[in-house]
Amino acid sequence: MESSQFGTLEDGTKVEAFTLKNTRGASAKVITYGATLTELWMPDRTGKLGDVVLGFDNLQGYLEKSNPYFGATVGRVANRIAKGKFSIDGKEYSLEINNPPNNLHSGPKGIAHAVWKAEPLHEADGAAVRFSIVSPDAKEGYPGNLSVSVTYRLTNNNELKLEYTATTDQPTLVNLTHHSYFNLGSSSDILGEVLYIAGDSYTPVDSTLIPTGEIQSVKGTPLDFTHPTAIGAHIAEMKGNPGGYDHNFVLGGTGKLKLAARASDATSGRQLEVWTTEPGVQFYTGNFLDGTLRGKRGVVYGQHAAFCLETQHYPDSVHHPNFPSVILRPGETFHSETIYKFSTQ
Ligand code: GLA
Repeated sequence: MESSQFGTLEDGTKVEAFTLKNTRGASAKVITYGATLTELWMPDRTGKLGDVVLGFDNLQGYLEKSNPYFGATVGRVANRIAKGKFSIDGKEYSLEINNPPNNLHSGPKGIAHAVWKAEPLHEADGAAVRFSIVSPDAKEGYPGNLSVSVTYRLTNNNELKLEYTATTDQPTLVNLTHHSYFNLGSSSDILGEVLYIAGDSYTPVDSTLIPTGEIQSVKGTPLDFTHPTAIGAHIAEMKGNPGGYDHNFVLGGTGKLKLAARASDATSGRQLEVWTTEPGVQFYTGNFLDGTLRGKRGVVYGQHAAFCLETQHYPDSVHHPNFPSVILRPGETFHSETIYKFSTQ
């Protein structure tokens, strides 16, 4: 495994990069800032490697406020918490409102914006690096010192395996996700890529993207991906400001590793399967990308330049007792796994 310096924060903290390589030529580059995946090179059907995730060439891009969480490990709680307020055991807590009127991705002091410790691991099947961080009590507004780890493994089977753990010293909330933006081909948008989602229901949202609490069938709606469908086939029906998909699909089966989604690109032949122990997956089509971000190799990222499949507990779960709980208590260990598995057709 190669390690190198990726950049330096204003306060002098160094950000390191690790490149995981497998025997098939694939590679994954991860950095200690946000335990972020910055590059993922996977073969097309002719064996030619291509970088299938969006990102920036240098640290500065990741530090900017405009970074839409490219490749980041998001927590303590991914997605939105209504009005940035919640209570545990009758005690109330407030978070920063960074996506008015809500908190998004735990705000600017969240672990997606912090430098993690890294520990390269030497394992039999491929390369791995384990990142860990302590999110201090009250820093983002959450109770408890939360110790989080995420291990990235690149197997010789072209799987990027992510394994998460978390422990706390006070009852708190945990909902960790991975925020890569994938584009499996070379087109400037993903509307022609085909998607299957292994969930026939979703959590409808209000105009601020907070779940209403209902669990609704996708049947007869533009959210029906229970049969492989081009992402762009019904996207125009997804009104909103901006339009497109930004929804949590219900997978169920918390703790059980199961297929969440399968995406493919006919031109490159690349296929991506997402497996997870999480009960939901947020399918997001880069609706907020608007052509103002210039990413790796000078590429301008326009709307729908990529899709995210963020495995997670449902958004705003703390306010919905009918959703699987995101409360972690002292003595418990949160554990989850997500696999992004690549192949060609
Ligand atoms: C998540 C959210 C989106 C958007 C992106 C970051 O996917 O669901 O609404 O905020 O993060 O830009």
